[in-house]
Amino acid sequence: MRRNYATEIRLASERAAVITRQLLAVSRRSVVAPPAIDLGATLAGIIPMLNRLIDARIAIVVHQRPIPHVLADPGEVTQVLMNLVVNARDAMPDGGRITIETELLVVDDDGAATGGLRAGRYGVLAVTDTGTGMDAATQRKMFDPFFTTKEIGKGTGLGLSIVHRIVARAGGAIAVSSKPGHGTTFRITLPVVTAGG
Ligand SMILES: Nc1ncnc2c1ncn2[C@@H]1O[C@H](COP(=O)(O)OP(=O)(O)OP(=O)(O)O)[C@@H](O)[C@H]1O
Ligand SMILES: [Mg+2]
Repeated sequence: MRRNYATEIRLASERAAVITRQLLAVSRRSVVAPPAIDLGATLAGIIPMLNRLIDARIAIVVHQRPIPHVLADPGEVTQVLMNLVVNARDAMPDGGRITIETELLVVDDDGAATGGLRAGRYGVLAVTDTGTGMDAATQRKMFDPFFTTKEIGKGTGLGLSIVHRIVARAGGAIAVSSKPGHGTTFRITLPVVTAGG
């Protein structure tokens, strides 16, 4: 019993911390260009914190391929990962696996024509879960602020709208692939820092 209360309190305070970060992100208006960060090192540094957001029935697996520095704010990347990991956790009530990958994506002029990204090099951050997946209707609305399918008190519907805003401001893009019963992958591409730009 006492153990349950302690768990509840810990979860409530972690949730409060997440919401506080969201609110800070919403209110912050950054005017300077985001710094260049080592995405792999940032990811490695926050894995312990991400592990504290999940429980023992969920495993986080990391696959890193080396990538050049990308244009992003380390605090914002942390927030993106927290929001995606919490969503993955919530989609796997019976446990499962979260795979976080980094890799380099090179878009040439042909690729730019089809994929919607400008030609250039990007750092990819992909988060895949083995959870419930999403139907088409949910995928259409998932980035809308305050859109949630979770019960009252469980979700504010801000997580993905903030992810979207952070990535867009960094000049990146998000691709989602998801199917009910087959899990979800969020693929975030962030522009690689180029000399003089
Ligand atoms: N990995 C996922 N698997 C299945 N559904 C997801 C996943 N990520 C997001 N969703 C769906 O998208 C909705 C919106 O997600 P979002 O993170 O914006 O809000 P939330 O998780 O409901 O609330 P909050 O993030 O504020 O706690 C979720 O309610 C859920 O229906
Ligand atoms: Mg969320």
